[in-house]
Amino acid sequence: MKEIYLDHAAATPMDPLVLEAMRQYFTEKFYNPSAIYLNSLSVAADIEDARKRIAHWLGAKPTEIVFTSGGTEANNLAINGVMQAYPEGNVVVSAIEHESVLAPARQYDYQEAPVTPDGLVDVDKLIKKINNRTVLISIIYANNEVGTIQPIREISVKLQEIRALRQKKGNKLPLYLHTDAAQSGAYLDLHTSRLGVDLMTINGGKIYGPKQTGALFVKAGVNLKPQILGGGQERGLRSGTENVPGIIGLAAALDLVQERHHEENQRLRELQKLFIDLLTEKLPKAVINGSLKHRLPNNVHVTFPEVDNERLMMQLDEKGIRAAAGSACAASSQEPSHVLKSMGLSDEQAQSSLRFTMGRLTTEQDIRQTVDLLAQLTA
Ligand SMILES: Cc1ncc(COP(=O)(O)O)c(C=O)c1O
Repeated sequence: MKEIYLDHAAATPMDPLVLEAMRQYFTEKFYNPSAIYLNSLSVAADIEDARKRIAHWLGAKPTEIVFTSGGTEANNLAINGVMQAYPEGNVVVSAIEHESVLAPARQYDYQEAPVTPDGLVDVDKLIKKINNRTVLISIIYANNEVGTIQPIREISVKLQEIRALRQKKGNKLPLYLHTDAAQSGAYLDLHTSRLGVDLMTINGGKIYGPKQTGALFVKAGVNLKPQILGGGQERGLRSGTENVPGIIGLAAALDLVQERHHEENQRLRELQKLFIDLLTEKLPKAVINGSLKHRLPNNVHVTFPEVDNERLMMQLDEKGIRAAAGSACAASSQEPSHVLKSMGLSDEQAQSSLRFTMGRLTTEQDIRQTVDLLAQLTA
């Protein structure tokens, strides 16, 4: 039985070229980049090269990239780092953030901005939540459950107006914009100044790179309290001997996905359209969740009314088809998805929904087979 893997939002298979780029840093080039002999200096130079390549895709300076152990740590550094630097401040996040943003944000004076039934942040309502003490806004770039792409640029333009007003009034508090781009690296433009963000999370494990690798873009001048103290690596913002193979792998993976993303997006868009058209034709009761227009090209999220999603997922699994009920990152929780609920779905609807996320190896045949099986199983 051939596996049909439709859970790329949870994990992506590592690109063989990425593995190849990493290999020598486990063996011959094992040196600690902080040592001062030539071999170490050469490893340190390779890290700086990786940093430069990542900075290129983010339209950033290399000194603005802080390597972390993945998306969760980058999000924690962004939220805790800013909020601890400004203890008098408050934070506003969207209601559809990943738990690795929500959980740290809940520790502070925090508010959630609602989303529309389409899964898009309501920009006017978000702006209304901002007051004179708001120091941080954190909005996911593309949502990990329904794949909706948030209006980051529009939000950053509005924040710029608020900053100008604050300046006039002599309010010295910053108003930073963070975006969690953990799901976006393989599909979207990550250029931070085009987006107008001050902080951005990227994640290697979602872009055909190694898990437990990632980075936080920290724009020059952003004031952040480090969360991991020690040897002072990463300009004091993240101590600990560098994960050299991971850093090399992250840069290689980002190069490969960003170089190919126009072509791959086009291919996935066609598969996404086919998937949705077939669902509409063969499962007329199925409902697609989230905006179709502002959406990652690899995501199809469906409610199958009156069908138990866990059971359906297991039935698919038995036939070799891997899908997800809710977010894999909250897989241990039995609670209905906070993302779907904030879009207005009932508990029952949320518990009748499955996420399918396609990837590089997904074929037209995979999609046809999946929809045929879904039609049989939900008949
Ligand atoms: C949007 C988003 N942010 C953050 C994370 C956390 O990433 P990690 O578990 O790799 O640390 C994930 C993981 O699924 C995610 O989808």
